[in-house]
Amino acid sequence: MNDQNNFAGKIGAILATAGSAVGLGNIWRFPTEAGANGGAAFLLIYISFMLLLATPIMIAEFTIGRHGQSDVMHAFESMSNGKKDWRYMGYLPVIAGILVLSYYAVVAGWTLEYAFRAGINDFIGKTQEEFTQDFIAFSSNPLKPLTWLFLILALTFGIVALGVQKGIERGAKIMMPTLFVFLAILAICSLTLPNASLGLNFLFKPDFSKVNSSTILSAMGQSFFTLSVGICCLCTYACYFRKDVNLIKDGFKVAAIDTLVAIMSGVIIFPAVYSIPGLSPDAGPSLVFITLPNVFQEVFSGLPVIAYLFSLMFYLLLVMAALTSSISMLEMSAAYFHKEKGMSRPKAALIMSLICLVLGAACSLSFGIWQDITIFGMGFFDLFDFLVAKLLMPIGGLLICIYLGWIVDNKDVYDELTNNGTIAQPLYPYFRFIIRYFAPICIAMIFITEIGLLKI
Ligand code: TRP
Repeated sequence: MNDQNNFAGKIGAILATAGSAVGLGNIWRFPTEAGANGGAAFLLIYISFMLLLATPIMIAEFTIGRHGQSDVMHAFESMSNGKKDWRYMGYLPVIAGILVLSYYAVVAGWTLEYAFRAGINDFIGKTQEEFTQDFIAFSSNPLKPLTWLFLILALTFGIVALGVQKGIERGAKIMMPTLFVFLAILAICSLTLPNASLGLNFLFKPDFSKVNSSTILSAMGQSFFTLSVGICCLCTYACYFRKDVNLIKDGFKVAAIDTLVAIMSGVIIFPAVYSIPGLSPDAGPSLVFITLPNVFQEVFSGLPVIAYLFSLMFYLLLVMAALTSSISMLEMSAAYFHKEKGMSRPKAALIMSLICLVLGAACSLSFGIWQDITIFGMGFFDLFDFLVAKLLMPIGGLLICIYLGWIVDNKDVYDELTNNGTIAQPLYPYFRFIIRYFAPICIAMIFITEIGLLKI
């Protein structure tokens, strides 16, 4: 099997990356984080981090991965100028991939449940109260979410094991723009809700008095999470990229699409939160699952067929968006065993999926019967999210900057990004400055302040 053929095309590269980037992070995690951290001020800091940290680090991951053309471990070794210890970075995607997929699959499972409910026309005529109760009853039920978790992991496994990314890419080519159109329609509809302006104020009118170091860490974590950067997921994908892909241009394109999707979900959710009694913007992970079905009902009231079709299509698209992300997570952790240990692709993917199933079950149960089991004051789900987005991703990002900025020869980086001088890269000096100085100092400072405050 020739893995090098995966994502070989130019469009394939950007689509696969965009597929990994756009997902529940935009539609579910972004509104949750923005809601918990005061809205507009968070959004502003988040966008700055997207531009100045996450996107440059994404390009750095691309550069390392594509130079290596194999897997992360080999990629880090091949540019390291003899400093072979950098190969240990190859373990980061294995560990982080397992952690992130374990809890991401739980929420992805929820989207399946909601697609199912939309399919059996379960939303019709329900009140806010009922949507809230339904969600709580479902997420705390010990069995139902586990069934969906299993199904999502089985689907993810199937796609990765069969190496059918090509099919997924082709699907993504149609489905991603469709999701985009759906989100745009929903956003416009949401703006017609009675208290829409309050929601927009919350999202776009910054109140900096709410900003503290934890807001800043959250915004940094979200920017890394939504672009899947810092833990060598994109480095894994870039191993399959062709040499004529313009890494800087494509990096910015993906970041722009991703940001737009996040803002659109904000424009859908927050006007709805202020218009539907009994909801508050800091309601947490359930926000999207309670508000969205409600928005469908409110907006299309009197048009039951449209409401039905729209909500079904929407949740199916959401499942797709979650899947294109979850396969990137499984791919990043399985690639090591496949490439370095010579395990077959299905076997590597199966072992990783089973580990995620066990850990994912713990995350899922932390919304119900294991609610009281906490580590550092967090249940399993929150703990995993914290470990990935606020610890491993920034630390990984910092290491990637140090590696590419200080260990690798400048000439190697330049040659890789310009494809040996054949692609013009006017932004290169800025990229170099960010990777060498700005990003590492910035990440380190945010970290030190936060840890100081946490008093661990
Ligand atoms: N970026 C994805 C989202 O927004 C999540 C994601 C996909 C991810 N692959 C990843 C997060 C790898 C961390 C690591 O939904």
